[in-house]
Amino acid sequence: MLNQKQKVFITRKIPDAGIKLLKQAGFQVSVSQVDGVIPRDELLKKVKGVDAILALLTDKMDGELMDAAGKQLEVIANYAVGTDNINLEDAAQRNITITNTPGVLTEAVAELAFALMISVARRIPESDQFTRKGKYKGWAPMMMLGSELHHKILGILGLGRIGSAVAERAFFGFKMKIIYYDVKRNEEFEQKFQAEYRGLPGLLRDADFISIHVPLIPETKHLIGKNEFKIMKKTAYLVNTSRGPVIDEAALVEALKKNRIAGAGLDVYENEPKLTPGLKDLSNVVLTPHTGSATIETRATMSELAAKNIVEVLNGRPALTPVKKP
Ligand code: DGY
Repeated sequence: MLNQKQKVFITRKIPDAGIKLLKQAGFQVSVSQVDGVIPRDELLKKVKGVDAILALLTDKMDGELMDAAGKQLEVIANYAVGTDNINLEDAAQRNITITNTPGVLTEAVAELAFALMISVARRIPESDQFTRKGKYKGWAPMMMLGSELHHKILGILGLGRIGSAVAERAFFGFKMKIIYYDVKRNEEFEQKFQAEYRGLPGLLRDADFISIHVPLIPETKHLIGKNEFKIMKKTAYLVNTSRGPVIDEAALVEALKKNRIAGAGLDVYENEPKLTPGLKDLSNVVLTPHTGSATIETRATMSELAAKNIVEVLNGRPALTPVKKP
């Protein structure tokens, strides 16, 4: 039986779809009124006594927070596919269900990864600035020369849903050759996209474009650093729409400055929202503010999915998209 008094706290304003769904389900819903990331001390107070938290990737969900909520806390629904903001071990110990939003943001993030590849290789932000500033004085044969994607080699680092969606666009749309690295091989993927598996050094050595799609876990922190940039082609472009700390950002700035690689497209940062000094001054990098899933359609669907997970769990049913315990 649904307990009408069950409480849900949403840590920041999200699209209405999910909020509406939670209210219709009969829960007492409150949404943080803070214009920005809710400060930790306020978050600890606000979660007291709630049965469910709808959290964002900017909210740290650890044992302290779970204990501050209290023993009635049943579920934390993350409004993201990544769950590196959540201590899954702490949640497992307290029997709290964790859910995320896989699948619904795949196409949006894959589109942004592709947009970053095209933007940096064809120098779109640079060209835009050039044109706006009145520097375009007429067509010129050597002006703003960039690189093509067509028929180049794309290295997918981390073959989950998003990595596969990027490969699909590359293979069918741009006739790119696909190589990939993951902890396990996927023969179905290899057949579908005539893709080849490589070890990490092999992928770094052979790829013209590298797109990162691994989760942030201890094993993937600084997966790409000084040594890896040495292996990459000087003409290679690196794109990251996963999590910032996967790249050693200081090493990236150095590699871009010294033209050890041709360029980078970043949607995520090592110390988000801060940028490593020097990064924003480089013309061979394109920067977006963690907007991989930021489309009207996707953010609404994420809102709905996070809410539905809460509805299921608080009604004693299994979550739709639970995150596995470590
Ligand atoms: C996620 O869902 O993990 C993305 O980073 C959000 O854009």
